[in-house]
Amino acid sequence: MKPGTAAHRELFCRTFIDTHDPYEPERLPWPVLDGLHLERLRSFPLWSYARSIEQRAGRMVTTFAQTLDDPLIREAVALQGVEETRHGRLMSHVLERYGIDAPALPAADPPVRREDFLVFGFGECTDSFVGFGAFALARQKQLFPESLLSIFDNVLWEEARHIAFFINWWHYEEARAGRDGLLQRAYGSVKYHLRAIVGTAQGDAGNPLPNIESAQIKAIVDGITPVMFLETALAENRRHMARLDPRLIKPRLMPALATAALIGLRMLPPLPAKDAQPEARRIAA
Ligand SMILES: [Fe+2]
Ligand SMILES: [Fe+2]
Repeated sequence: MKPGTAAHRELFCRTFIDTHDPYEPERLPWPVLDGLHLERLRSFPLWSYARSIEQRAGRMVTTFAQTLDDPLIREAVALQGVEETRHGRLMSHVLERYGIDAPALPAADPPVRREDFLVFGFGECTDSFVGFGAFALARQKQLFPESLLSIFDNVLWEEARHIAFFINWWHYEEARAGRDGLLQRAYGSVKYHLRAIVGTAQGDAGNPLPNIESAQIKAIVDGITPVMFLETALAENRRHMARLDPRLIKPRLMPALATAALIGLRMLPPLPAKDAQPEARRIAA
C-alpha cells in the first residue's frame, strides 16, 4: 500500500472507523472487588493524572478534527476524539464506582495547531508502548481480577488503534507534501517523540507528574527487570498490532528502541545471584 494514495487514506480511515466499538463505559460489566483489590485500586497514584490526560485528549482531538478539510479523515479524527472523551468518562466512572479519592486537576486546554496534534500523536506512541508493558505485567502478576483487566485491555486496544491511525495519517500527509524520504521521516519521528517525552517529563500546571514513589507501585515493580519489561512490552505491542490490517503502517520507533535496548541488555554479563556470592567466596577460599 503506497502512502499518500487515495487507497491508503481509505484503508487507514475505514479500518479505524470500522473497528470502533460503540460501548457506554457505565454499562460495562464492572466486577465487584474484594477488600484487597479495592485497596490496591484505590492506592494507585495515577488516577487524577490519567483522567485529566484523557479528558484533555478528548477536547484537543475533537477540536483538531474540526480544522480538517478532508471529510473522511475529519470523520476518523472526530471519532478518535469521541473515544478519548469516553476514556475520560470511563476513568471518572471507575473513580466513582470504586470510591477512589482522586481530586480533579485544573483543566487547561492545550492549543490545537497541527504541530500540537503531531506532538500528541507521537506522545501516544510512547505512552501506549509503556502502557502495553505495564498492563501485561499487571496481568501476569494477577494484580486485579481478569474481569476488570479485560475492560482496561480494551482501552489499550483503542490506544493501539489510535497510534496506528496516527502513524498512517502522518505518513499520508508527509507523502502528499513530498517529504517521504526515509531519513526525513526518521528525523521527524525522533524529533516529535522527544518533544512529547520532554513535555511529559516536565509536566505542566494542569498535569503535574504524579507521585510514583508509593509503596503500591514499588510492590508492583518489585522483581521486574528491564529485560522483562521490554520483552513484555514488545510482545504486547505485537499482539495488539496483529489485530490490525497487515497493510497498515505500524508505529516502529518505540519497538525498534526497545529491541535495541534488549539486545544491549542481553549482551551484559549476568549479575551474580545475591545468594550465591557467599558460597562462591567460600569455594574460592
Ligand atoms: Fe485515551
Ligand atoms: Fe488515544
